[in-house]
Amino acid sequence: TGVCTFDPGYFSTGSCESSITFIDGGKGILLYRGYDVADLADQGDFVDATHLLLLGELPSAAEKTAFAREITRHTMVHEQLIQFYKGFLHGAHPMALMVGVVGALAAFYPGAANVRDAQERLSACIRLIAKMPTLAAIAYKTSIGQPLVYPRNDLSYAANFLHMMFAVPTERYEVDPVLERAMEVILILHMDHEQNASTSTVRTAGSSQANPFACIASGISCLWGPQHGGANEAVLRMLEEIGSPDNIPSALARAKDKGDAFRLMGFGHRVYKNYDPRAKIMRSVCHDVLDHLDIKNDALLDVAVRLEEEALKDEYFLKRNLFPNVDFYSGIVLRAMGIPVSMFTVLFAVARTVGWVAQWKEMSEEPVTRISRPRQAYHGHMHRLFPTVEQRS
Ligand code: CMC
Repeated sequence: TGVCTFDPGYFSTGSCESSITFIDGGKGILLYRGYDVADLADQGDFVDATHLLLLGELPSAAEKTAFAREITRHTMVHEQLIQFYKGFLHGAHPMALMVGVVGALAAFYPGAANVRDAQERLSACIRLIAKMPTLAAIAYKTSIGQPLVYPRNDLSYAANFLHMMFAVPTERYEVDPVLERAMEVILILHMDHEQNASTSTVRTAGSSQANPFACIASGISCLWGPQHGGANEAVLRMLEEIGSPDNIPSALARAKDKGDAFRLMGFGHRVYKNYDPRAKIMRSVCHDVLDHLDIKNDALLDVAVRLEEEALKDEYFLKRNLFPNVDFYSGIVLRAMGIPVSMFTVLFAVARTVGWVAQWKEMSEEPVTRISRPRQAYHGHMHRLFPTVEQRS
């Protein structure tokens, strides 16, 4: 019944109203509640950006202190949840662990299922933001067989994450302020991106009024794929595979060959048909981090810079508006910081949780939430007579 538009991949379907994030893909603009993401990355910090996305405005000094305290109050996870990690096979991808443990949080906070209660909603959002770095770091520590490191609430969100990832009981660990700042910028740049696949997934799950922890677990599942959050991992693997600038022409030829499934990872975007504004910032963070760590002649960076130059001279990429996206440089920065490749998408999930919960909260605050229910173009049989077993060939 009713008129139905066929729009596979939702190229031209607006699925909701939102006041959180604005993108002009043609001009390469990204705004969080009206503020340019470049200004937030340059002049703001994690708490500013999170308060802004979740609660609508930048915080005053007093609000900022209170909000930061509220997040740090929830950084621990229930000891029983930590047992979950022991049930996974050694070597399992940390994203698989994240899907499981974040969904399992629903069992620890059953009150969150009361999505019509404003206080429960906010608590679930704060808990998710606060616990994600802890859960991510435990996934990493489990994967390398080291004891988990508890959060330190005297550190910033970014510094605490680095601390939980890299501290070991036998040595003193000081967070490098340049890496802390780089991590903060990475988190801010990845926080929200309007109705991308994982955010739409969270909204779709939330439209049935499911428990918010389960909704965020569905977002993590969607983010995992190489066409979305898995791209930063895929970029690094691709750069390693290309190995040397000499191999760039053959990589470009493969990317252009329609018979070959190979694509230039970190290139192209559904919405940006101009340079991704986040990629510009990430490119400069990448150079800052490598300079600071005195990493000279980084072979992968060399391949990345040359690949970008060559692709942007190529008719194929220009005609299709295929520019580097945020993931093109983020993998090189993360690798230089010592983050293992398998954790790249997990880190993206930590950052994107802020956007997911902000979008989920916005949707749940609407007086009436309509369940997401797309239709389809049916190509199967119509009314067939039911055959007996003997009649079936
Ligand atoms: N390498 C080679 N060709 C490409 C690429 C690429 N990376 N991206 C798109 N194309 C071609 C594609 O083959 C098609 O060509 P034609 O018109 O001749 O058939 C044309 O460009 C349009 O591609 P599309 O797949 O219709 O575009 P889309 O908007 O559906 O896909 C995308 C966007 C991001 C999935 C795609 O560009 C891609 O696969 N990029 C590589 C993966 C990647 O970097 N993903 C991260 C996205 S940014 C992070 C995030 O927001 O999650």
